[in-house]
Amino acid sequence: MAQINPSILSADFARLAEEARAVEGADWLHVDVMDNHFVPNLTLGVPVVEALARATETPIDCHLMIEEPDRWAPRYVEAGAGSVTFHVEAAAAPVRLAREIRAKGARASMALKPATPIEPYEDLLPELDMLLIMTVEPGFGGQAFLDIMLPKIRRTRELISKHGLELWLQVDGGVSAETIERCADAGADVFVAGSAVYGTDDPAAAVRMLRHQADE
Ligand code: DX5
Ligand code: ZN
Repeated sequence: MAQINPSILSADFARLAEEARAVEGADWLHVDVMDNHFVPNLTLGVPVVEALARATETPIDCHLMIEEPDRWAPRYVEAGAGSVTFHVEAAAAPVRLAREIRAKGARASMALKPATPIEPYEDLLPELDMLLIMTVEPGFGGQAFLDIMLPKIRRTRELISKHGLELWLQVDGGVSAETIERCADAGADVFVAGSAVYGTDDPAAAVRMLRHQADE
């Protein structure tokens, strides 16, 4: 069954706890950490993730768009994230980092920007619990979905099957009622949605609707 992870980036930052609770029933709460170096935007850090983890029953899916994830990712596990995603473009030692995240008790996940191919990382897949394929250039919510990423999603799903792995395949960026079915057909099973959830009057209903569409 498809998992829907609402992205808090599109929520009202002055009411984060309330906004997190507005999507209870979602599988994970997606929290975008940006440092204004890896991406040209700045959001939140460890203390806010800690506060969010206390404020909601929904597990935290923490997406780190930061430099030096080797140093920072373990801190987000300690802050209460159940899944931590680092970008391979920023990681000095992705295998060591994935193992450290797992050893600390969270799911280890690795993200690829649109121009980063999956093929060089085929041998790393068994070290991961999830792979994130960005379907926009990371940094901002509300951007248009990049259709040109669909072949990469398909190739990644084939690699996962070929190796008989259990890892989840997440897509993030421009996922909406218009695009989610294409992603699901290509083989994604975890869907991040920011504006398509928090840009509506009823975020919880938007989550149910997206899940239904992805499962069709
Ligand atoms: C973008 C973030 C996304 C963002 C998605 O860099 O990683 O998680 O919140 O927002 P939408 O769904 O509006 O594209
Ligand atoms: Zn994200």
